[in-house]
Amino acid sequence: MSDILSVHKVESGYGEVGVLHGMDLQCRTSKVTALVGSNGAGKSTLMRTIAGLLPNTKGSIHFDGEVIDKLPSHARVEKGLIMVPEGRLVFSDLTVADNLRTGSVNVRAREHWQSTITEVYDLFPRLYERQRQLAGSLSGGEQQMLALGRGLMGLPKMLLLDEPTLGLAPAIAKQIFKVMPALVERGISIFLAEQDLYRTLEIADYAFVVENGKIIMHDTGKVLKNDPKITNAYLGDSKS
Ligand SMILES: Nc1ncnc2c1ncn2[C@@H]1O[C@H](COP(=O)(O)OP(=O)(O)O)[C@@H](O)[C@H]1O
Ligand SMILES: [Mg+2]
Repeated sequence: MSDILSVHKVESGYGEVGVLHGMDLQCRTSKVTALVGSNGAGKSTLMRTIAGLLPNTKGSIHFDGEVIDKLPSHARVEKGLIMVPEGRLVFSDLTVADNLRTGSVNVRAREHWQSTITEVYDLFPRLYERQRQLAGSLSGGEQQMLALGRGLMGLPKMLLLDEPTLGLAPAIAKQIFKVMPALVERGISIFLAEQDLYRTLEIADYAFVVENGKIIMHDTGKVLKNDPKITNAYLGDSKS
């Protein structure tokens, strides 16, 4: 088994403010790797740094056998590293179909957009039904499916998913979680940042726990789910 992504001693932040203090983690090819931790721990900052929206001031990032941390974000997309940012950022005034088209603008994905959109509609029949509707008229869950679908339109080797279930009703969140194994089956590697620990550890092959910009623990989802340190610190609310 090989690592598709490896983050080594990465430091990054906003201007003078350091947020990540020597991050180390690895994601296996065609697996779900999770990054869990409370609000403000640094999950989104790490996602943005991996995607190239924030520079790392120290350390290195390898993706698919290459050092990528000096590449601009669009070049990382071209290599198949695609982020679905938190907050379901869809274009409200465009239709579902046009939103999906915007996901396949990179050179590698462009010529395949028609077959890819068919696959996305197979995965999310709801988007197929609503393809001519404006994205702004969709429910929160449907918008999240659209954001995910747009990520898939770029033909990712790896998807960085930043809190895809935040603010969604539990039944909808469950649907989003259910899609992830189907993506892995298609050979896509997933790096998932989440606060919904219980469900995340259920589906994650491996998980890293982040606190104050540092990894404090890592193990298989199964082991962490049964670790009292985790259950006491983070799982209290989500199980009730
Ligand atoms: N755009 C920003 N400018 C300055 N500080 C930020 C910005 N975004 C996040 N931070 C700070 O970085 C830290 C980590 O935030 P973030 O990575 O968003 O955490 P998480 O995604 O785990 O909730 C927090 O202290 C937060 O206040
Ligand atoms: Mg975040």
